[in-house]
Amino acid sequence: MPWHPPRAELELLELLAVGAVEDPPRPILVPAALVEEAVRTGGVLVEDVEGTPVVALTDVTPVLDGLPPSGQDPVPVRATTGFLRPFADGPLRRHRRTPAEVRAELAAGGERPVVAVPVSAALSRVAVARAAERAAAGAALLWLVLVGEGRRGDLAPEPLLRAVRAGAAEVAGAQVAGGRVAGADGAGHGIVVPVAVPALADPAADAALVEAVATAYGAGEVLAVPPGDADRLHRASRRELSRALPPPSTRGVTVFFTGLSGSGKSTLARGLADRLLDDGRRRVSVLDGDGVRRLLSAGLGFGRADRDLNIRRIGFVAAEITRHGGIVVCAPIAPFAAVRAEVRALVEEVGDFVLVHVSTPLAECERRDRKGLYARARQGIIPEFTGISSPYEEPSDADLRIDTSTISVDEGVDRVLALLERGGHLPPDRPDE
Ligand code: ADX
Repeated sequence: MPWHPPRAELELLELLAVGAVEDPPRPILVPAALVEEAVRTGGVLVEDVEGTPVVALTDVTPVLDGLPPSGQDPVPVRATTGFLRPFADGPLRRHRRTPAEVRAELAAGGERPVVAVPVSAALSRVAVARAAERAAAGAALLWLVLVGEGRRGDLAPEPLLRAVRAGAAEVAGAQVAGGRVAGADGAGHGIVVPVAVPALADPAADAALVEAVATAYGAGEVLAVPPGDADRLHRASRRELSRALPPPSTRGVTVFFTGLSGSGKSTLARGLADRLLDDGRRRVSVLDGDGVRRLLSAGLGFGRADRDLNIRRIGFVAAEITRHGGIVVCAPIAPFAAVRAEVRALVEEVGDFVLVHVSTPLAECERRDRKGLYARARQGIIPEFTGISSPYEEPSDADLRIDTSTISVDEGVDRVLALLERGGHLPPDRPDE
């Protein structure tokens, strides 16, 4: 059985496979079932997202002495990583180079100290100035654009790369072409290369990992650069930041209603969407709970795993709409806080997220019981019914609370619209031409 690791594990494996680190900075987390199989058959094949085998894991050994505590999944292991072929995916793939390629290129530029400049967020002017000092003193600069899982800076990989290239070009007084920074005199002044280095939880270990990677790529020293402070960003970084996050009037927004069945989520969502459509200033999509379950999540049940998957699917679509500047109104029960937080994080990478808790009390939802579901849940005919036999975790991070037993739907919609207006999401009306 091949393994499709989550992104952080895949990045770790790639670092090992291409020789960007010698010793794994932490154990590899492998699903328990695969560890058993690896121990039995001698190894596991790792596939990239396209299903192509990229790494062969052999000598898979759980890190803990003896058997891991029962139920532990995934299992932390050590293993030998055999490189099979280049990985197909991952951010900035076509700009990546192996340590060997980069070292060869640096060597071709002659004997010089190589100083690594690791960058994972918008560059400050101070950072560019410090790098320029080192270059003026004769060092070649190795700009490492860090894009790994968990290493979320303020810029997405592509704008980050553009910003770093602009900084590198300025330092060299030259152009950056194909990752190479060519000086006015034709000599190499450095290299800009992206590397996916998954973030480690411990900052000291993380810094050590980045240093190990920099060393493998040929650096003798790592330049410590203070994080960019907002007022003193390098020009190109500031431009990329403003391009990445458009003003609220055109930025995408996910309005996420959560609440019990019968609380009024769908009615509010529909009401909000209708008012936004009538208004005409923004584009609107609706992902209603029941609607989603008829197509996007058809076949899923109401156990926790299926509900979480349902919300992840809604979150995925909502984030795509948000990325493209639309307003998307979601209205599932979404009873679990953890997956709601996941969706918020996903959306906030590309736009804004507004959480509306439709807090109509259970007694009122049950009294309404429009679909007769509560009665059947009470009789035990419907298992795992939210509020009756399955939990609803009240949000502590709601931007707005609407109880439809005390205010009307129209008033509820007014409040959401007022919130969007305050956030600048509804641009001021232009007089008719
Ligand atoms: S969620 O928990 O995954 O967010 P979702 O909003 O998609 O739920 O679906 C909820 C709708 O499914 C309810 O409005 C109700 O009509 C229906 N439903 C059927 N079974 C259940 C159940 N066990 N718990 C809650 N809702 C259910």
